[in-house]
Amino acid sequence: MKTLIFNGSPRKNGETAYMIHTLQENLGGEYKVVDAYRAQIRPCIDCRWCFDHAGCAVKDEWQEILSYIEECDHIIIASPVYFEEVTGMLLAVMSRLQTYFSARYIRKEEPVPKKKTGAVLLAAGSIGPREKAESTAEMLLRQMSCESLGTVYVNRTDKVPVRDRDDMIQEIKDLAVKLKMKG
Ligand SMILES: Cc1cc2nc3c(=O)[nH]c(=O)nc-3n(C[C@H](O)[C@H](O)[C@H](O)COP(=O)(O)O)c2cc1C
Repeated sequence: MKTLIFNGSPRKNGETAYMIHTLQENLGGEYKVVDAYRAQIRPCIDCRWCFDHAGCAVKDEWQEILSYIEECDHIIIASPVYFEEVTGMLLAVMSRLQTYFSARYIRKEEPVPKKKTGAVLLAAGSIGPREKAESTAEMLLRQMSCESLGTVYVNRTDKVPVRDRDDMIQEIKDLAVKLKMKG
């Protein structure tokens, strides 16, 4: 079982990192984590090469991620909520999914034939709110032929960190069980 995790947080030991770690511990299997703030992945430059070709003309770490997206079983989008959205750095990385849009609507090809299940993890310092970030993350998952099995949304993390929230930790464990059941 292979899981791809997109981490949209700049904080190495922050709330999102804790949520990811908890999920990994309970899910098992093989992982690849894309760290949006540290990966050598440039944003899409709208060069339109993918209007005529599969893949991406920009040669960087994204090439390896494209292969993993196609072969993995699960995809997780994890991010802090910034201005009610997932972080800008995560969106910059995810802009490279444009190649799949071009495949579907311009080249008329199915870019990710293997269907996957996934989930969204969100950490919000105050009240979030969750809606915009959640709907963006779910839309990004759909680009990768991935159906979300649910969101774990933790708010008020600036008052009480995730590590002290037993109810939220249990939600992450339950999510891991759901994902495992899907293989
Ligand atoms: C630039 C910036 C924007 C933020 N915007 C929001 C927001 O709109 N709503 C909210 O509840 N918290 C907001 N926060 C707080 C973060 O969501 C919160 O601290 C989160 O737990 C950080 O997660 P991390 O430790 O995984 O990086 C913001 C923080 C930063 C730095």
